[in-house]
Amino acid sequence: GATRHYKFDIKLKNVTRLCKTKSILTVNGEFPGPRLVAREGDQVVVKVVNHVKNNVSIHWHGVKQIRSGWADGPSYITQCPIQTGQSYVYNFTIVGQRGTLFWHAHISWLRVSIYGPIIILPKPGVPYPFEKPYKEVTLLLGEWFNGDPEAIISQALQTGAAPNISDAFTINGLPGPFYNCSSISDAYQLNVQPGKTYLLRLINAALNDDLFFSIANHTVTVVESDATYVKPFHTNIILITPGQTTNLLLRTKTSPYPNSTFLIAIRPYNTGLGTFDNTTASAILHYSTTVQPLGRRLPFLIIPPPLPSFNDTAFVANYTSKLRSLATNQYPANVPLYIDRRFYFTVGLGTSPCPNNGSCQGPNGTKFAASVNNVSFELPSTALLQAYFFRRSEGVYTTDFPVNPPFAFNYTGTPPNDTFVVNATKVVVLKYNTSVELVLQDTSIQGIESHPLHLHGFNFFVVGQGTGNYDPVKDPVKFNLRDPVERNTFGVPSGGWVAVRFLADNPGVWFMHCHIEVHMSWGLRMAWIVLDGDLPNQKLPPPPLDLPKC
Ligand code: C2O
Repeated sequence: GATRHYKFDIKLKNVTRLCKTKSILTVNGEFPGPRLVAREGDQVVVKVVNHVKNNVSIHWHGVKQIRSGWADGPSYITQCPIQTGQSYVYNFTIVGQRGTLFWHAHISWLRVSIYGPIIILPKPGVPYPFEKPYKEVTLLLGEWFNGDPEAIISQALQTGAAPNISDAFTINGLPGPFYNCSSISDAYQLNVQPGKTYLLRLINAALNDDLFFSIANHTVTVVESDATYVKPFHTNIILITPGQTTNLLLRTKTSPYPNSTFLIAIRPYNTGLGTFDNTTASAILHYSTTVQPLGRRLPFLIIPPPLPSFNDTAFVANYTSKLRSLATNQYPANVPLYIDRRFYFTVGLGTSPCPNNGSCQGPNGTKFAASVNNVSFELPSTALLQAYFFRRSEGVYTTDFPVNPPFAFNYTGTPPNDTFVVNATKVVVLKYNTSVELVLQDTSIQGIESHPLHLHGFNFFVVGQGTGNYDPVKDPVKFNLRDPVERNTFGVPSGGWVAVRFLADNPGVWFMHCHIEVHMSWGLRMAWIVLDGDLPNQKLPPPPLDLPKC
């Protein structure tokens, strides 16, 4: 493969949305950030230079980082953040993946404006396993806050209350016309020609919401998710959680009215307390053979496509069950069939007591918290990977992360009593090449909520999902071990469970967390340590010399 060099300068830029001009953190002054393009097998070298006051690190979300864990990027997990005036070179090779991923800041809530696409093209001469598109287009879904997101989350963590929600969703950084102080000129415009096939690379980089996506009067074909090919299927509506990416084929109409326009719209699927927002962001699909100034073409059709209601869990269950691996000889689904270790994790919201007998602004004077098996994960003050590699774990983390919840979980739809959390930095240690089965059970303690769990360093296979309680006797019989979808992020259904499998063949420290940023801030996160294997090519190499210090 080739080597692709990039330079990311973290710097401020003034941006105006919803009549509000703010200075925001960007890469190279671009919002959304620049595209990173590589072919499968290429080496990617990105020099990140921090010119701002905030500490920062960048995560290459979904890149497997085989034996390159030092380049993964989550702050205090694989590295200390890059401080003001410092730089760090991320160096990794893309192995066995092709499709769409994204990069984003991985500290506090900085990913709200520091994010951009990763486009992985097939190896030279290797075609897509679907029709060759006429053009490829990236649609980045995000969020805009009129206020300062850093102030919003730090205040929420101090008071124990839920943080303010964003003021708009965005498509390629733009909200579309349906917000206060926004108009049709605030919409991203996609110009298409009739009778062609477009590959749409859809990325949910929003902080806090699963999103429904649809294009009025058009059907799309899903062909890829999280940089793995899937069995193609047609749909009018997509569900995409934060942290997920999906490639779609859009076949444009053969004889539309000249200059006709259709709305592309996104709206949230409810993801829990404090984050609900029922607003619609939109972009414009415009048929034209020549690009004309926007003013001359209006008014045209600006009716949003119908989208499911914010609590339509039945739609979501049906949609997610359609996703299947391609599972061909060329693109096999290497599902672990024999399992070495099984884990059962409850994930959900809860509360922790207010410090010093004070009164906090969460439920009944408590603080909001979120946890996995009632452990609300605290970020350490030094990076876990360094502590592990240099054998200085003492006082940084413990290896007693619970394999099962501390109480017999029973989902009844009403809050159980056992919502306490312990605040700690606990990890699970896995031997090299352990095959893992992990059942994630949503507790829905605070009402309807969904948790898109993201695993760093690996893809997992989604072998089963269901509503209510997971049944360890009846449910495994129904697991799909033939063509389960392979992903890096998957929503634990609201009031339900999901079972995933992965082979721990990548030595390092790997973060796993809810990709809803507020849930992660509340502690819905944990880490796996995968030990070195015996052979030289099964070991994590030492860190690069410029690895940031805490
Ligand atoms: Cu995209 Cu740890 O995150």
